[in-house]
Amino acid sequence: VVDIRKLYAQTGRFTYDPGFTSTASCESGLTYIDGGEGVLLHRGYPIGQLAEQSSFMEVAYLLLNKELPSKDELDKFIWTITRHTMVHEQLATFFRGFRRDAHPMAIMCGAVGAMSAFYHDSTDITDPHQRMVASHRLIAKMPTLAAMAYKYSIGQPFLYPDNDLSYTGNFLRMTFGVPAEKYEVDPVVEKALDRIFILHADHEQNASTSTVRLAGSSGANPFACIAAGIACLWGPAHGGANEAALNMLREIGTPERIPEYIARAKNKDDPFRLMGFGHRVYKNYDPRATVMQQTVREVFKAMNVQDPVFDVALQLEEMALNDDYFVEKKLFPNVDFYSGVILSAIGFPTSMFTALFALARTVGWVAQWNEMISDPAQKIGRPRQLYTGPTQRDYVPVDKR
Ligand code: ACO
Repeated sequence: VVDIRKLYAQTGRFTYDPGFTSTASCESGLTYIDGGEGVLLHRGYPIGQLAEQSSFMEVAYLLLNKELPSKDELDKFIWTITRHTMVHEQLATFFRGFRRDAHPMAIMCGAVGAMSAFYHDSTDITDPHQRMVASHRLIAKMPTLAAMAYKYSIGQPFLYPDNDLSYTGNFLRMTFGVPAEKYEVDPVVEKALDRIFILHADHEQNASTSTVRLAGSSGANPFACIAAGIACLWGPAHGGANEAALNMLREIGTPERIPEYIARAKNKDDPFRLMGFGHRVYKNYDPRATVMQQTVREVFKAMNVQDPVFDVALQLEEMALNDDYFVEKKLFPNVDFYSGVILSAIGFPTSMFTALFALARTVGWVAQWNEMISDPAQKIGRPRQLYTGPTQRDYVPVDKR
């Protein structure tokens, strides 16, 4: 019998790191995070500046192509994305196989994976041109698929993309427009949603991005890899937290009930956690949450709306940040804490929140996937384990057991 622990000790090449808390899985030039200082840079540009001054299409270009585009490059990129927004007509038929009350993320996992069966001419991962076409297709078609998932859930007909609109404006129209009426895109809502997309575009080797890379490392086609990322993002400890956070804030309902929930989050016998709080990497305020909170104020002011849930969120944050438990454990609001408040004000049901996250994160996923495939050092991802089962033993026939 080989004692695997001994073998590991002899080779000196194995680390045991559950949750990969201190293991880098790759080299990457896309995104830098300093969790202690609360810094997030995309290709060197601070997230606050990008959210304030850039657009989602420009950030997509930056992540995919390493540099900010010139005006001509940006126009050409937008044109390219725009001409891929339509999905194959048979995909609509595919949607009708789902139950009406299917979660949009369940539909997204299936529909994006199914794209492998529709776009064979962009699944050869050894061809850089096909890889870029697949990337453009994924970025372009995600809003169409997400809007279709929403329309299907409420029993309304799908709307074809309107390519005279911006990426984000087009998504708003496909989601909230109806065929017989003209839909006017509200510029405030369009800008706020575009900013939310920027804030979600990439976040280095988080669980879903690592899943995309791991799936891609085996040579799987890009549509299958992104479907794997969507499945991983769905979990409440990851992208599903935006839905869970707003549900929690609505459940709390009034500021008087906040202490009860803070006490529950601190109680180790209670599995409850403050959703939208805490982060593996940030041990300081998540810079995306800062922009998100500011965006809530701007959207509420411009749309002249009030939602008591925002007051609950602000007071919950203040109480938590003054509580020893949260201070000691360095638990701060993350990107998901305020995003649901804005998405809800815009009119999205909570079930769509994680689908919107997936739409935006597709940009990071495809950029990371392309970076990995073009890296000459790339190998199949194959973690090892510490075996804890029985040592070798002889098989016993069933009548002798
Ligand atoms: N509420 C209460 N306690 C918390 C919270 C929270 N939200 N988050 C962490 N803690 C506590 C844990 O109980 C643990 O305490 P212990 O040391 O006494 O055991 C300690 O803080 C460290 O927590 P871990 O779970 O070990 O930290 P990890 O880095 O593995 O998890 C995570 C990070 C998953 C984000 C966690 O903070 C969490 O569950 N947060 C709530 C869900 C959430 O908002 N997820 C979104 C993350 S951002 C994103 O994916 C876009």
